[in-house]
Amino acid sequence: MPSGCYATVPGSTQLSRESEPSRNYGLPSFRDLGVLVRLAAIGVAVFVVVAAFAFVAGWLSPSKLTQDKMMDAFAQANGVHSGFRRNHAKGVCVAGAFESNGQAARLSTASVFQPGRVPVVGRFALAGGQPAMADGPQAVRSMALSFRPPGGEEWRTGMNNIPVFVVKDAKGFYDQLLAAAPDPATGKPDPAKMAAFLAAHPETGRALAIIRQYPFSSGFANAAYNSLNAFRFVSTAGVATPVRWSMVPVAPFEAETAGQDAKSDKNYLFDALIAGVRQGPLEWHLIVTAGRPGDPTDDATIAWPNDREHIDAGTLTIDHVEAEAAGNCRDINFDPLVLPAGIQASDDPLLSARSAAYSESFTRRAGEAKTPSAVQIGGGEGS
Ligand code: HEM
Repeated sequence: MPSGCYATVPGSTQLSRESEPSRNYGLPSFRDLGVLVRLAAIGVAVFVVVAAFAFVAGWLSPSKLTQDKMMDAFAQANGVHSGFRRNHAKGVCVAGAFESNGQAARLSTASVFQPGRVPVVGRFALAGGQPAMADGPQAVRSMALSFRPPGGEEWRTGMNNIPVFVVKDAKGFYDQLLAAAPDPATGKPDPAKMAAFLAAHPETGRALAIIRQYPFSSGFANAAYNSLNAFRFVSTAGVATPVRWSMVPVAPFEAETAGQDAKSDKNYLFDALIAGVRQGPLEWHLIVTAGRPGDPTDDATIAWPNDREHIDAGTLTIDHVEAEAAGNCRDINFDPLVLPAGIQASDDPLLSARSAAYSESFTRRAGEAKTPSAVQIGGGEGS
């Protein structure tokens, strides 16, 4: 068949024949153009994906505070202790129940506030990333709880025995970790770094002044634990109330004594807690504080005025204690944003910062080899 004939040939098309003249002038054919466009589109897609990863990883903004940096700061301050929480590393597991009296139900639809009993799993701990640290009078104590009403409306909360938090956002927490990290030359924190941190964060100085006004109690069982962060309770009518909450002990307050510092038993706070649970159930009242318009909900370093309404929502009873082990509180992430319907996050930036850091801490420790906790239950079995 003569060349230049427009009859189709097997495997060819009229279009491809028509495109041939362009090839004769050294121009790309339509087919080549289509390939180029497709290649360019693939290139753009690959670029967008790589840029998105780089953005999320913080490579495009080196000053951005990522979870890797936060975990590195914990490591600088405390070292890495395989399998343990990056903060509140020394702890013990407990269980019991919350008996709601129904009084908080007017503020929140959460099923946990309907009259009745809800099982609770929890953890007492000391703030700090050292799992074998010695108990001491100045160690901040914590109570973390997971309320488990039927139907899966779980509520998790972690509370500390201080009246306000020491920083108001993730950056403040990060800066504080670095300022408190031991200087490699001395093995101790550098006082100049801590002074610089306090100068840059005047809210921390103000918070510490409030904290010093509230002496610590002698143990875990007679301490009050505070949410510190604000949340929102939402009622059946859809009305949102800013709230903070506290677990206030039934056991009477007894101040720490100076002698507690000199205890030879480095687990004396935990051992007293374990002995207390064995003697009989320990109790706390869940006291909900209702904020008023203007009360700060985005700054946990500021206390709300004392005259706010306090609602006694019910009684927490702790009657079981056991050492951290597979499947118990050791493997719970007490993320403060695990909330049931009727309880919502406030605009406090610490809440999402906590949620992100706890998740990263949990992911890391879950994949690490485990060492037994320094807190063990004498007599073998839990009680
Ligand atoms: C940006 C600020 C904060 C950071 C980065 C942070 C970081 C952490 C981390 C990494 C853990 C260990 C989580 C795990 O592995 O399960 C933890 C535990 C804990 N944190 Fe925070 N935290 C912050 C603020 C707060 C605040 C405001 C409170 C107020 C009550 C708090 C109370 C607790 C408690 C009670 C635990 C122990 C929970 C448990 O026993 O498992 N934290 N924190």
